[in-house]
Amino acid sequence: MNKQHCIVVRKSGPLEGRVRIDGAKNSVLPIMAATLLCEQECIIEDVPKLRDVYVMIDLLKTLGAGVEFSEDGVLRVDGSKVDKWSAPYELVRKMRASFLVLGPLLARFKRTMVSMPGGCAIGTRPIDLHLKGFEALGAKINVEHGSVEAVANELVGERIYLDFPSVGATENIIMAASLAKGTTVLENAAEEPEIVDLANFLNSMGADIKGAGTNTITIKGVERLGATTHRVIPDRIEAGTFMVAAAITGGDIMVDNIMLEHVKPVAAKLREIGCTITEFENGIRVQGPDSISNTTIKTLPHPGFPTDMQAQFMALMSVANGTSVITETVFENRFMHATELARMGAEIKIEGRTAVVRGTPKLAGAKVDATDLRAGAALILAGLVSEGETVIGQIHHIERGYVHIENKLSQLGADIRRIQQI
Ligand code: EPZ
Repeated sequence: MNKQHCIVVRKSGPLEGRVRIDGAKNSVLPIMAATLLCEQECIIEDVPKLRDVYVMIDLLKTLGAGVEFSEDGVLRVDGSKVDKWSAPYELVRKMRASFLVLGPLLARFKRTMVSMPGGCAIGTRPIDLHLKGFEALGAKINVEHGSVEAVANELVGERIYLDFPSVGATENIIMAASLAKGTTVLENAAEEPEIVDLANFLNSMGADIKGAGTNTITIKGVERLGATTHRVIPDRIEAGTFMVAAAITGGDIMVDNIMLEHVKPVAAKLREIGCTITEFENGIRVQGPDSISNTTIKTLPHPGFPTDMQAQFMALMSVANGTSVITETVFENRFMHATELARMGAEIKIEGRTAVVRGTPKLAGAKVDATDLRAGAALILAGLVSEGETVIGQIHHIERGYVHIENKLSQLGADIRRIQQI
C-alpha cells in the first residue's frame, strides 16, 4: 500500500508541546484474538488505526466474525457467527501476532489449523513454547506443510512452566486455558502490562484469571465468556518513542494518556542521561538535556528495559557524550538499525548481542531503510538531529506500530513529512 511512500526528515530544533498517546498495539492485537472466545458482542475502545489492526480485522472477518471499526476508535466484534477454525497463510504471513488466534480457536472448537508465522527480521522467533503449552492442556499438535494443527477432545487445566517468559506464549495459553476444565497454573509467565490488559479484558467477560503481571498466573476455566466493553491501555512504546524525541532534540514534550508505571524503565534511563522528568497523573513531561550523557542498556523481559525501545535508545546514544554499551538479550538479531544509523555517521560496533556506541557530535542525513518497526522509529529520531535531509524508505514497517507519527512530530515542531517516492 505505502511501499512507494517514504518519510523525509530534516534537522529540527528542540521539539515542544503536547502529544496524546494511542491505545497499545501489543495489547489490542491479543484482545482482538480473545474476542473469538465469546459468542456475544465485544466493544473495544481506543483502538489505534494501525496497519496490524486492519490485518487482525481481516482475519476475524475471515473466521466469520462481524466487525465494525468506527472513526472514533471503537471496535465492535460480534463473535456469534464465527464458524471457521483455520487461519490461512495469506493473513498470518502479514503479521506474526495472527498466531494468537490459535489458543482461542482451539478452546472454542477443540480443533484449529493455523499457518506458521513467517520469518522475521529481528530473530527466528519460534513458537515451541506456545505448542508445549497447548500439549500440556491436552491438545494433539501436528506441524505439517507450514501449518500447525491442534486437536483436543477437551482442554484440561495443568501446571505449565515456561522455559522463557514469552509474551505471545503466555497470552495464547491464558486464552486457551480460560475455557478449559479445571485450573491452569502458568509459571515463569511474562509480566508485561499487555498481559494484564488481556487478563482484565477476559475477566470482564467472566473469566477467572489471577496473578497477571506476576510470573505466576492462575486460570480457573469457565463454561463460557460473555459480552463486554473494554478500553485498551495506552501504548508505552509509542510513549517511550516520544520521550526519546524530547531527549534527543533537547526539547520539552508533555506526553499525555500514559500509565506511569508502564514507562518506568524508560523514564529511569532518560533521567540517567540527563533529562528532567516530571510525572503527572496520566502524563509525563520530558525536558531534554543540553548535552546527553552516555549509559549502559540491557534489554530484558518486563519490568526490565523493553527490547522495543532498544533501537530508539541506540539513536540517542549515537549523539551522546562518551561511549555506551547496549546488550540485546530478548531477540538474537535486533541490531539491523545499526547499519542504517552508521550510514548517517553513527559509530557503532556490534559484537554478538552487544553494541558499543561511540557518541558523535554530528550525524548527517542519508537515504536509509526501515528494517523493522522500531528500527524505523530510531531512524526518524536520528533524522531529527542530523544535518541535511534523511530519506527513510520501507515505511510500511513504521505504520504497523505508529499512527501517522510524522503528523504528531510535526505538531511538536519537527521538520518531517511523508512523500511519494518517484
Ligand atoms: C511480543 O512479541 C511483542 N509483539 C514484541 O513487540 C516484543 O518485542 C516482544 O513481545 C518482547 O517484548 C506483540 O505483542 C504483538 P516473545 P512475541 O514471545 O510475543 C523467544 C514490536 O516492536 N520465544 O516474548 O513474539 C523468541 O524467539 C514487537 O512491537 C521462543 O523461543 O515475543 C524471542 O527471542 C516486536 N519460543 C523471545 O522468546 C516461543 O515459543 C521473546 O519472544 C516464543 C518465544
